[in-house]
Amino acid sequence: MNKQILQNLSKNFGDAFYLLDSKQFAQNYAELKKAFSEIYPHFNIAYSYKTNYTPKFCKLVNELGGYAEVVSDMEAEIALKVGVKPQNIIWNGPYKNLKELERLIVLGVIVNIDSLYESDFIRQIAEKYPKNTINLGIRCNFDIGDGVVSRFGFDVESDDFKNALALFDSYPNLNFIGLQCHFATRKLETWKPRAEKMLALIDALKITPKRIDLGGGLFGKMADSLKAQFDGYIPTYREYAKEVATVFAERYKDEIFKPELVIEPGSALVGDCMKFVSKVVNIKNIRGKNIATLLGSIYNINPTLNKKNPPIEIVSMGEKQKEYENLDFGGFTCIESDYLYKHFNGKLAVGDFAVFGNAGSYSVVLKPPFILPNFPVLEITDKGVEVIKRGECFDDIFHTFTF
Ligand SMILES: Cc1ncc(COP(=O)(O)O)c(C=O)c1O
Repeated sequence: MNKQILQNLSKNFGDAFYLLDSKQFAQNYAELKKAFSEIYPHFNIAYSYKTNYTPKFCKLVNELGGYAEVVSDMEAEIALKVGVKPQNIIWNGPYKNLKELERLIVLGVIVNIDSLYESDFIRQIAEKYPKNTINLGIRCNFDIGDGVVSRFGFDVESDDFKNALALFDSYPNLNFIGLQCHFATRKLETWKPRAEKMLALIDALKITPKRIDLGGGLFGKMADSLKAQFDGYIPTYREYAKEVATVFAERYKDEIFKPELVIEPGSALVGDCMKFVSKVVNIKNIRGKNIATLLGSIYNINPTLNKKNPPIEIVSMGEKQKEYENLDFGGFTCIESDYLYKHFNGKLAVGDFAVFGNAGSYSVVLKPPFILPNFPVLEITDKGVEVIKRGECFDDIFHTFTF
């Protein structure tokens, strides 16, 4: 980032905006794919749309041969709209709009059943459309020693799970795609148990699914300053692949049919593919504490409020800077705790831009319309500036209200 670029962008798009990096995204995708495929070639990636459903990212995944992992009919619609074939869409999640379920399942979207209430409806669809192939999987829930009792999917020890599996014996048009699981922890040591437990389950059931989907929950690339704020080790793509793909390669080495191994990364692909740029509008001192106010908010970069300081770069726009110690960057909202970055030491002036890295995951998709509409998303390309999402305006927020 340099002064010239930011000056041009702010002149045309305002004093706060996101910068998207689709080249980095494509590179992350290729690296992650290679890391797993080199060990177990029957592998694919289903990108977790909820993490950042910017259509440019979704389109890229499709062009690169990946699948769409969606958790609502809204997200399935994005996938269809960017040209993803229905059979390359995987619909997970604890709630499924039953009307939309019928429409999408008939199109060929793969639905992972999360609870028994869905299977009742699947039965009705199977009877109503006897000539259609209905692609289904089942989300599995088991203990991997992460201390979490997840509320998603079927307890694999339960009768509900057995009943869900029995569905496939009752209707010839139900096509069993496979089993899926997802665990939120990103710790490397939780990945081998996921793989081993899924394979043990499959062997115990004496089934060979077409696909075994281990979900998401991988760390992505980040600056050392961010890594240092996590309490554990941040693994590389290769380290995850070694833990997981090796288990699959070993298990299926003598088998003619090898199931497809799928993972559903979100943050691991997109975390480092967006920056957030915002102008310093004021610097003040309150009872000895240095505080800068930005045209930006913690809700722009980290609406999950995880209290970590993102990577930061200050770009001087020419005003005379002063050296500050222990300065906190506050946001435009009236929430007292709205700080984007704490304990900054360095040079700063009003008019400078703060550029925050790792703003790609759970940012634009989670930003509430609180106090201000959201800022534009831009990408600097060889051909110039591409507007990925225009800045929101008053009407975008209020046209659904009755005045
Ligand atoms: C079912 C499922 N798959 C994938 C993901 C993506 O997770 P992550 O961004 O940690 O890779 C999530 C996130 O909650 C999820 O619920």
